[in-house]
This record gives sequence, structure tokens and C-alpha cells, in this order.
Amino acid sequence: MILSFDQVSKQYSELETAIRQVSFEIEEGEFTALAGPSGSGKSTILNLAAGLDFPTSGTVTLLGQDLRALDKIGLSHLRCNQVGFVFQSYNLFPVLTALENVEYPLALKGVPPKERRKLAEKALEEAGCGTLGKRLPSELSGGQQQRVAIARAIVTTPKIVFADEPTANLDSKTAKMLLEVFKDLNTNKNITFLFSSHDPLVLETAERIIQVADGKVHEDPSNKQQPFIKGLGFRTPPQSLRSTLSYYHS
Ligand SMILES: Nc1ncnc2c1ncn2[C@@H]1O[C@H](COP(=O)(O)OP(=O)(O)OP(=O)(O)O)[C@@H](O)[C@H]1O
Ligand SMILES: [Mg+2]
Repeated sequence: MILSFDQVSKQYSELETAIRQVSFEIEEGEFTALAGPSGSGKSTILNLAAGLDFPTSGTVTLLGQDLRALDKIGLSHLRCNQVGFVFQSYNLFPVLTALENVEYPLALKGVPPKERRKLAEKALEEAGCGTLGKRLPSELSGGQQQRVAIARAIVTTPKIVFADEPTANLDSKTAKMLLEVFKDLNTNKNITFLFSSHDPLVLETAERIIQVADGKVHEDPSNKQQPFIKGLGFRTPPQSLRSTLSYYHS
């Protein structure tokens, strides 16, 4: 298990309890979406999962660590080395170029300049913005900034990527391309993905969907695939394979 929420609640103020007693687990290699209407608690869950915020009660365990037990240095070390995060509002550094933004986490990890430039260029290329490296965020459209933010999250080949509405500002063709990049990293580098979305295209690609509504999570149990079924590359098996699958699975 790579992430677990155990009875997690987050109360921002007396009037605002964003999530209530949320429990779920994410296994290594999953490709899971948090789906739900605006204000349901998706960003809150992702922020708590990455230790960007802390629960009012309950326990979040990421990569075997109870996040509350880590100090600031421990948390930033864990995030820097093993976690990628795509913020809903991108959060690019305004004074750095796109390429420098993507290089940033590699610099923190101590990757030498030449190598980090190469890796950053490759990540920008993968995210479909290889020609934009020299521009400042203010010189990019919202969708382009989103792609740079995605490149920055994947450049370190983290163990898990959290992405908050990663395709919200993209046209459907670019969104599809980025989902293919995510899926490819998931399949070939075993990077776990947990992303939030309302986008039917994203939800279609997800292998597991956790519904968030009014600060609670609901899940259709049949929705969670057994890992070997996941490896076959579909969420709902095609009719032609159902009899073969039912031979092996209950
Ligand atoms: N820092 C905060 N202080 C107070 N209330 C907050 C804060 N952040 C979020 N909330 C509230 O918590 C609830 C859940 O918000 P959250 O941002 O998690 O929703 P969301 O599902 O990500 O919505 P969206 O789809 O619009 O991004 C909302 O009612 C929101 O107003
Ligand atoms: Mg949100």
C-alpha cells in the first residue's frame, strides 16, 4: 500500500468541515481518479495526501510514513524525492522560465546541471511543450502553464503523482495526449497516479474511481480491479474476455 487515509477529517473552521471520516487505500501502481462536484473535498484530500496540509483528526500514511510524525525537513525530503504534485492553480515560480521551473526539483535533489537540463527538456517534450522552455509563466496560456506544471511533477520519476484537475484547462486533444503520457509512466515506470477530475475523458481513463460527495468518499466495490486485471489495461473488461476472466477470477 502506498497511501492510506484512516478516518481522516479536515475542518477548516467552525462552519467548514471539508471532509469527514474519509478512509481509503491506494496500492502501488494504481491509476485512480477522485471524482465529485466542486466543493466536495477533492483538493482537500490531495493536499492532505501530500502533506501540504494536516488533518483535524485521523491518519494519513504515505509511502509507509505517518505524515504527522514527520517534521518539515522530513516532509519536504519525502515530497522532493518520491512525490510529484500538479496544483490546481499550477503554482509555477513566476521569475523562472518554464525549463527552470521543471529543473527546480532536480536541482534540489542535487542532479548536476547538464543532466537536469536534459531531463527537464525531455519532460517538457513529453508534456507537449518542448518549444516553450525559454518563456516565463506570464508568457504562457493557462493550458501551457498546466503542461509545464505536469512536466515538473513527472521529471523526478516519483513513486506517486498527485494531480489536481490536471486537464482542466486543456482542449480534449491535449488532455488525451497527457493522459497517455500519465498512463505510459504508470505502466512502464510503475508510477502510481491519484488525480481529481470532473472531466469524463479523464474518468474514462481511470482504472478506479473514488467518488467524493459532501466530504465523504463512496466507491462501487466492483470498481476496484484486482491488480492482474489492471495489468491487462482496461477497467471494464470487453465482452469477449469476460468468460476467460471468470474462469480465473471469482
Ligand atoms: N483553506 C480553506 N479554508 C476554508 N475552507 C476551505 C479551504 N479550502 C477549501 N475549503 C472549503 O472546503 C470545501 C472543499 O473544498 P475543496 O477545495 O477540497 O473542493 P474541490 O472538490 O477540490 O472543489 P473544486 O472542484 O471546485 O476544485 C469547500 O466547501 C471549500 O469552500
Ligand atoms: Mg479542487
